[in-house]
Amino acid sequence: MVISRKRRLKNSDSVKSFSKLPNHVAIIMDGNGRWAQTRGLPRAAGHRAGVESLRVIVETCCELKIPFLTVYAFSTENWRRPEEEVSILMRLIVEYLRREVDMLDENGIRINPIGKLDVLPEEPRKELYAAAERTENNKQLMLNVALNYGGRMEIVQAAQRLATDVSEEIIKVDDINEDLFASYLYTKGVPDPDLLIRPSGELRISNFLLWQLAYAEFWVTDTYWPDFRKKEFHQALEDFQNRERRFGGIKN
Ligand code: IPE
Ligand code: IPE
Ligand code: MG
Repeated sequence: MVISRKRRLKNSDSVKSFSKLPNHVAIIMDGNGRWAQTRGLPRAAGHRAGVESLRVIVETCCELKIPFLTVYAFSTENWRRPEEEVSILMRLIVEYLRREVDMLDENGIRINPIGKLDVLPEEPRKELYAAAERTENNKQLMLNVALNYGGRMEIVQAAQRLATDVSEEIIKVDDINEDLFASYLYTKGVPDPDLLIRPSGELRISNFLLWQLAYAEFWVTDTYWPDFRKKEFHQALEDFQNRERRFGGIKN
């Protein structure tokens, strides 16, 4: 759960303050397997520990009033893993939602799954749709969970739907611009991430939010995701507040 059942969110006066916070944080939750391996544990133990980090980071976003968080939970490429690992990951998604949805809802968190969801196994798909429906009017934090998500797939699907709408004369080719294109993505209506965090030392994007990350600030750490907790998140946010974002312009 996000916040322990006996505890609501902390009072904002005990919360660390920052001069500038991102509006939207995206995280590639990576390194679960290596975390487990270094402890002589099965990979599944790493994935379980990773769920705890997610709880802490969601809680911290609420404390700091960061309104958008997008987490990469399962990529379109992750089907290449052994069947057993895929089914453990699917099970964890179901368990997480069943266990957490009450607290997420009570704390105003909206669960918004993004990805090609229709091909997910039935159980996680149903839990996801139910959680999304139940929390859809919540406003405190939008938690986008990227599942069977691939940036290229997302762009291809958007192009297909645009082409269909052109052929049905719903839109004209000349209407297509960046804003209209973005409205055909899974993230319709969600502002682009300001900060991308990748734990576990990898320096790649792994097909995550290819369109949306155009001007995100990157922050990487060698820490594996299961060890990525509030302290590490605060470090990333501290670094972010000192970044100068020029968006192609020049320093003022
Ligand atoms: C991230 O951790 C979880 C998923 C990709 C689902 P990994 O399982 O990729 O962990 P490493 O990268 O092998 O350590
Ligand atoms: C990216 O991690 C996907 C998720 C965290 C869900 P991977 O572990 O799958 O990425 P690669 O294979 O190292 O690029
Ligand atoms: Mg990995």
